Amino acid sequence: MADSPDSMSAQGERYRELRRQIEGAVLPLATSVDGRHFTCQVSAHDLALQVGGYVVIEHEGETRLGQLLDLGLELVGGPEVGLEADHADAPLMTTMALRVVRGSGVVLHGDLTPFHDGVVRSAGPARVHAWLEHIRPARAELEVGELRLAPGAPFRLDAGGFDRHTFLCGQSGSGKTYSLGVMLEQLLLETSLRIVVLDPNSDFARLGQTRPGVDEAVERRFASNAGVVVRQASDQGSNRLSLRFADLDPRVQAASLRLDPIADRGEYSELVAMLERWAASGGSIPLPELLAGGGDEAQALGLRLRNLGIDRWQVWSRDDPGSVVDDVAGRKSRCLVVDLGSLPTLQEKATVSEAVLATLWRNRGDREPTLVVIDEAHNVCPSNPTDPITAIATEHAMRIAAEGRKYGLYLLVSTQRPQKVDEQVLSQCDNLVLMRMNSRADLAYVGELFSFVPSPLVSAATEFGLGEALLAGKIASHPALIRFGARITEEGGSDVPADWAARRP
Ligand SMILES: Nc1ncnc2c1ncn2[C@@H]1O[C@H](COP(=O)(O)OP(=O)(O)O)[C@@H](O)[C@H]1O
Ligand SMILES: [Mg+2]
Repeated sequence: MADSPDSMSAQGERYRELRRQIEGAVLPLATSVDGRHFTCQVSAHDLALQVGGYVVIEHEGETRLGQLLDLGLELVGGPEVGLEADHADAPLMTTMALRVVRGSGVVLHGDLTPFHDGVVRSAGPARVHAWLEHIRPARAELEVGELRLAPGAPFRLDAGGFDRHTFLCGQSGSGKTYSLGVMLEQLLLETSLRIVVLDPNSDFARLGQTRPGVDEAVERRFASNAGVVVRQASDQGSNRLSLRFADLDPRVQAASLRLDPIADRGEYSELVAMLERWAASGGSIPLPELLAGGGDEAQALGLRLRNLGIDRWQVWSRDDPGSVVDDVAGRKSRCLVVDLGSLPTLQEKATVSEAVLATLWRNRGDREPTLVVIDEAHNVCPSNPTDPITAIATEHAMRIAAEGRKYGLYLLVSTQRPQKVDEQVLSQCDNLVLMRMNSRADLAYVGELFSFVPSPLVSAATEFGLGEALLAGKIASHPALIRFGARITEEGGSDVPADWAARRP
């Protein structure tokens, strides 16, 4: 005879209730055999703890602050329980499967000696804040936001950590450009680091303008420290984004003209002679005049320029007082925003990017600490360049990534397509700013590149909201989940009205 459904469900309920009671009685305990790393178990019915969050561990009168780096549900064998079966004389014995949460983490502060069965609880924001205050470095700090898992506790980057290359990564719309702006503003306010920004989308065209409502003291400090110069194609004055053909590396000159020094030797030697005449004139003769009156080769070169449309590039210097290359080489601007987005063609953007990177590399002997910011890096230094000029730009980015640090050239590379950026550039990055990212393949790739960052924290990026990030590396005191704070300067270059979707009266 089968058990009646009623008695089965009543038994099930009793079993679950018993299990809940036993599971609920699991004490939240942590153990560390080396004093630095701990493991812990907590009740599955009290899920106040989170990966990346902070805990207090009490043990024999000592209080330690720790960070949880991993959490997972585990099944463990519980007590033997008997299930009564209507048709049987004796209860059916079975082992109860208990669910407990196991975690692991590191001790951030406190006694670093081993301990066993310390009591774990979630740490309040005030406790975390007090620790962060305690470990503040002597160097400049950049307040960029607050800890996501200790709201109200400000998070400050160690500005000195920008002497390593930094990788900023997150899917489109995750807040990369906005957050990059927050970091740049703080660097401009708090340090004297020179900054050069390659800005493909004109996102930093107003980096020099503080927003209305910004604290007056901050506004004044920004006005006196920042020194932002934005070079744009449309500028009519001394900040026009301009370039002279002679500013370019000979390889880039040949590549832009699709000239091969051997196969096209006649035109190539005419080009060399032309540039020599140009240099001898002090750089004052315009291009058409240089070509006029030349022989066959000069005419061929002129035709080539016209047919490729290069003579019509907007970027060519007219009577500009100085090109973007002069600005970079002469270290004229504290912060130079190269508004690539203001240029009409892809070739011009690529050529200017390459000229800036080449100039930084050529002048590395200056040893002036400079942060080289490359937004949308998958376009500037891609893993598979599709044109020869971008290929040369990528080579220069690689050189800076590999050897720039000893000359004071530090990269900050930002992208939504990590696998599309040159791997040699990314593999040299020591700092990570990871924002929301849904693609598991991209996250796995980032996790591989930054193997020192606990992988559960990297995986958490699928859950990040707008402006939330994982920060790790020399810039961060510990791998921290944060929420970026508000910008003090204006975003974006164009004033596209944002009220087009406003409800009509
Ligand atoms: N921390 C933040 N606070 C408020 N708005 C933000 C924040 N971060 C990003 N935004 C807004 O979200 C949008 C997308 O951000 P953006 O930085 O352009 O993303 P991404 O560069 O990753 O594509 C922008 O309109 C930006 O103003
Ligand atoms: Mg962006």
